[in-house]
Amino acid sequence: MSSAAALPDTTVSVREVFGIDSDLLVPAFSEPDPHVPGIDPAYRFNPSVTLAILAAFSRNRRMLLQGLHGTGKSTHIEQVAARLNWPCVRVNLDGHIGRLDLVGRDAVVLKEGRQVTEFQEGIIPWAVRRPVALILDEYDAGRPDVMFVIQRILERDGKLTLLDQNRVLDVHPGFRLFATANTVGLGNLNGMYHGVQRLNHAQLDRWNIVAALNHPPAADELEIVLARVPEMDTPQGRKMVASMVAVANLTRAGFEVGDLSTLMSPRTVITWAENMQIFPDPAVSFRLSFVNKCDEAEQPVVAEYFQRCFDAELDAADLNAVRPGAHTLAAMAG
Ligand SMILES: Nc1ncnc2c1ncn2[C@@H]1O[C@H](COP(=O)(O)OP(=O)(O)O)[C@@H](O)[C@H]1O
Ligand SMILES: [Mg+2]
Repeated sequence: MSSAAALPDTTVSVREVFGIDSDLLVPAFSEPDPHVPGIDPAYRFNPSVTLAILAAFSRNRRMLLQGLHGTGKSTHIEQVAARLNWPCVRVNLDGHIGRLDLVGRDAVVLKEGRQVTEFQEGIIPWAVRRPVALILDEYDAGRPDVMFVIQRILERDGKLTLLDQNRVLDVHPGFRLFATANTVGLGNLNGMYHGVQRLNHAQLDRWNIVAALNHPPAADELEIVLARVPEMDTPQGRKMVASMVAVANLTRAGFEVGDLSTLMSPRTVITWAENMQIFPDPAVSFRLSFVNKCDEAEQPVVAEYFQRCFDAELDAADLNAVRPGAHTLAAMAG
């Protein structure tokens, strides 16, 4: 990180870089750094969420991005950072991460053949002293001790006090904080997100920008899938993907009214399309990509969605039919 600028030293045009109709220029770094995420040219931005993320970067606002799983929350922030050359690190706050993982702990290490106790800095003190965007993934799954630490960096007073280490750190002006969550702090209302905590209001209040990223409109989702699996970008393939997205939207509607306890995320549709490169029969690849993850009692509902969108029976996809397509076998042999 030493070679890169400490603060943004250039600007990028929102119109040119993100294709959004806006004259805004946002601060950026001219030199990349090893922590800058790679650009994914296939990523499709959601303009209103992109603008909120850009505001968080340029105006130093703490941002919470909420939405169902697999809607592209984490990658959206990362892909904005990639285009600003802003170093970015992600931490998943799933139930395993504790306070000491974040702030640091004494660890036994070997030095010149001898065991010594050494302090190992956690990710938070490391990040706050650098021009780094820290993304806290699965924020609503964080344990109470973890939330307590995060609460302190949410206060933008330029200092971070680490009580147990007796240290006060200066927060770097280029430090940015983002979090992603599946719920807006209401806990696991519909049973889909086990292990999420209710966020208290004092904690929620400290986020300056709260945005939501939901499932994309069908036409956009089609393009997202085709960008990921360009092999399907043929007239026939597009028709197929449109039907796949239609099935996904039926599962989302079914989930909303309580007919299903699982739903297909955009990630599931991408996986299905990828699996079709191995198992070209859409029923077979659907079974392997999604149906087998569903509760057995709900599988008939899913089969009906499939039937409606493909005008074919899902039952045909019994596992005896699971055979790689001829071209895959040829590729394997080659
Ligand atoms: N708008 C999009 N454009 C391209 N790929 C997307 C988009 N949204 C989601 N994806 C893909 O879907 C997957 C899930 O995204 P991710 O950011 O991990 O979701 P989340 O954090 O919301 O659970 C990733 O592989 C991502 O590349
Ligand atoms: Mg995520």
